[in-house]
Amino acid sequence: MRSESPAFPACLSAAAPSHLADGLLDGLTEHGWSQQNIFLSAQLTLELAAECRALAANGVLNPAKVGRGTAQALRTEIRGDRILWLKAGQSPACDQYLQLMENLRIALNRALYLGLDEYESHFAFYPPGASYQTHLDRFRDDDCRTVSVVIYLNHNWLPEQGGALRLHPQGESTQDIAPLGSRLVLFLSADMLHEVLPATRDRLSLAGWFRRRPA
Ligand code: OGA
Ligand code: MN
Repeated sequence: MRSESPAFPACLSAAAPSHLADGLLDGLTEHGWSQQNIFLSAQLTLELAAECRALAANGVLNPAKVGRGTAQALRTEIRGDRILWLKAGQSPACDQYLQLMENLRIALNRALYLGLDEYESHFAFYPPGASYQTHLDRFRDDDCRTVSVVIYLNHNWLPEQGGALRLHPQGESTQDIAPLGSRLVLFLSADMLHEVLPATRDRLSLAGWFRRRPA
């Protein structure tokens, strides 16, 4: 059993310059999604962006596939990003980010009783013109992914550069969220249809999923 300490205000530790915005957690259950504009510090955003760019330049990112397990396929017309899954100890910046996500996992469990016990995450790099067509993050044969997380790493993003995350909440109008550096978006993996619109510049992010243990 993973320890639930340190207590919630650990978000205020050195590794965690941000705090959770009012309504961030309740918004997730009330609307199926929520967001916070300044989640990462400017410094950590810069460091993670530099790391993502270096991985891309060094050819370390892999074309993302769709589907799961043996059904995985490369379909760049459906999904055009390149990714690298994070490992603990990969870099100080990634470890700070993973610590923030651990604090967020504990906060989600305390506020919403979600029983989240794992986090998986990858860097994502969308070159200009790349997109990700409308999809759900939960796989048909694996219902462990519960809360989807995206954090953007793009300095000075302008609306005309495109690249929005478009959410399709059931029975409501779509919501476009620009990939502004340091912004966090949460949504329910099983229910929220969403897509990534093409951009005119590189689009960098960290995408992740809080998972429940398989039943
Ligand atoms: C994903 C995804 C959204 C985004 O990686 O599954 O939907 O805004 N990402 O990058
Ligand atoms: Mn997705």
